[in-house]
Amino acid sequence: MSWKEIYQERLTTAQEALLKIKDNQRVAVGHACAEPGYLVDEMVSMKEHFHNVEIVHMVAMGKSEYCQPGMEEHFHHNAIFVGGSTRKAVAEGRADFTPVYFSEVPKLFKTTMPLDAALIMVTPPDENGKVSLGVSVDYTKSAAENAKLVIAQVNDQMPFTMGDSMLDVSQIDCFVEHSAPLVELKPAVIGETEKKIGENCASLIHDGDTLQLGIGAIPDAVLASLKDKKDIGIHSEMFSDGVVDLVRAGVINNSKKALLPGKMVVTFLMGTKKLYDFVDKNPDVLLYPVDYTNNPVVVAQNNNLVCINSCVQVDLTGQVASESVGYKQISGVGGQVDFVRGAAMSENGIAIMAMSSTAAKGTVSKIVPLLDEGAAVTTNRTDVDYVITEYGIAHLKGKTLKQRARALIEIAHPDFRDELIKEYERRFFCEYHKAA
Ligand code: COA
Repeated sequence: MSWKEIYQERLTTAQEALLKIKDNQRVAVGHACAEPGYLVDEMVSMKEHFHNVEIVHMVAMGKSEYCQPGMEEHFHHNAIFVGGSTRKAVAEGRADFTPVYFSEVPKLFKTTMPLDAALIMVTPPDENGKVSLGVSVDYTKSAAENAKLVIAQVNDQMPFTMGDSMLDVSQIDCFVEHSAPLVELKPAVIGETEKKIGENCASLIHDGDTLQLGIGAIPDAVLASLKDKKDIGIHSEMFSDGVVDLVRAGVINNSKKALLPGKMVVTFLMGTKKLYDFVDKNPDVLLYPVDYTNNPVVVAQNNNLVCINSCVQVDLTGQVASESVGYKQISGVGGQVDFVRGAAMSENGIAIMAMSSTAAKGTVSKIVPLLDEGAAVTTNRTDVDYVITEYGIAHLKGKTLKQRARALIEIAHPDFRDELIKEYERRFFCEYHKAA
């Protein structure tokens, strides 16, 4: 059968395809800006047909109605990263959280978390019968390759991305055509604090370095501070619109990258139509599965790698909590540790934790004597390298506990330094102002 015949034969409606999912099965759903929103909405509207169906995904950008009150009998959400629309469900016990490094999610789907079904979003097929996973290859490719049933929303508004981002039509069981604009992540608002943090980070970035950046105002502020740099490269878990501006300004050209020179390497993308148009059939932007992009051994092949991630608390010894505020799970490990470990093995690589010095409108310090009870240590103190706030840069790697505490107190918000100094003196049996 030709690919066109296969496609026609497997073209169906959402209802027909979704009815193939049975009670008590596990379903992985594509995430972030590639969530197959039409399939998910239809599945929720057909809830009476489903009992105890487990829904697994990472970044939730949609409504996540399957984990709202009243859905318990039909669906159970297992979050491998918690987002805005799933936080409450996890906090209230309606959903579960599974800790996992992003790089290891594909392996989970082959081992301890086998999938009955995958709901994904793809482009229409090209002339060779290949569909692209577009802006989200990450775990989605592995989910499609390992699930017993693959249902794809075919969306002609999904950009056709390059790299290891394609599936053959024969790998998909049901095609449901539905055109819809992709979810957009608008550029973050950069305030004075983020601007200062961005400048502090930029002071550690040199011409020719390769960058990994996360989501949000701080990564955007870092990019905004790089306008005078040159030959910057990208090997990242994700990137947003800010990268497009720097490519157009000639700052990012990937020319000095040790691994895949000339190419930007990434596993998912979140931004606006500007980004989606930029990556469409762009041979210089390669999307690969996350067990490649985030594999620390692959990450380490990039010399002069600068990884920039964020966190919610750092204790005085350098333990970093990034995914929970006390007991409350607010996100996940994601790719943070993958890149911190990769940077440690990269020649001249460094890893930065960049954060504002305070949270909750300035009422709490993010640099704390002890992490809140219940907090998960995301990056441990042996792995932590640089911590940056709007007040400066603390380099912790290779430093004693006392030296770390002093460096962190220097970049804490001035309103909280006395309290931290008291803890320093209690913990280390010495006067802060006398000690060297
Ligand atoms: N005490 C109390 N509340 C805190 C806090 C603290 N120390 N730190 C943060 N918060 C609250 C914020 O006030 C905010 O609450 P709100 O949503 O009610 O406004 C919430 O926690 C999120 O914090 P915020 O600083 O706005 O988060 P962010 O969008 O800048 O993301 C991380 C920061 C750490 C959550 C995010 O970078 C992350 O999830 N990191 C782990 C995964 C990772 O690094 N992946 C790799 C790159 S993609």
